[in-house]
Amino acid sequence: MLRQPGSVADVATDGRGKTVFGFAMSRVFAPEAELLTIAVDRGWQGSGIGKALLSAHLARLSAYGAGHVFLEVDEGNAAALRLYSTFGFRQVGQRPGYYAKKDGSRATALVLRVDLG
Ligand SMILES: CC(C)(COP(=O)(O)OP(=O)(O)OC[C@H]1O[C@@H](n2cnc3c(N)ncnc32)[C@H](O)[C@@H]1OP(=O)(O)O)[C@@H](O)C(=O)NCCC(=O)NCCS
Repeated sequence: MLRQPGSVADVATDGRGKTVFGFAMSRVFAPEAELLTIAVDRGWQGSGIGKALLSAHLARLSAYGAGHVFLEVDEGNAAALRLYSTFGFRQVGQRPGYYAKKDGSRATALVLRVDLG
């Protein structure tokens, strides 16, 4: 069981090492973890890869001693919010003006948390 801070990454591939569909990466400081990023190739989005990837990733974070996971997400990121709510993430805070947008405006980051069973 990891009891020191460390990075944990999972990659979704075609199983032959030729195509990478997506990846997820977190920092673990048991009993806490922070999901730093998760992304699925644009051409494969909406086909369930994000759910499969996050499911496997959360299981691994739990195995590494994480009891709860935090993340930050742009309040306008509908796909990510849907994905996170599926896994029980709930808003516990917000950071107004956290993200810089291309048009010069700024977006609020929502801070989400899930407790791993
Ligand atoms: C967020 C992301 C990882 C989701 O991956 P994905 O493979 O497309 O997700 P899935 O196909 O597993 O779908 C997960 C859920 O989101 C929903 N969803 C997918 N795309 C959506 C969209 N554009 N708008 C709203 N909901 C969407 C799905 O319907 C599904 O919901 P359900 O469980 O009710 O059926 C992917 O959109 C992505 O890489 N986005 C760019 C990077 C990013 O924003 N990462 C998050 C940073 S915090």
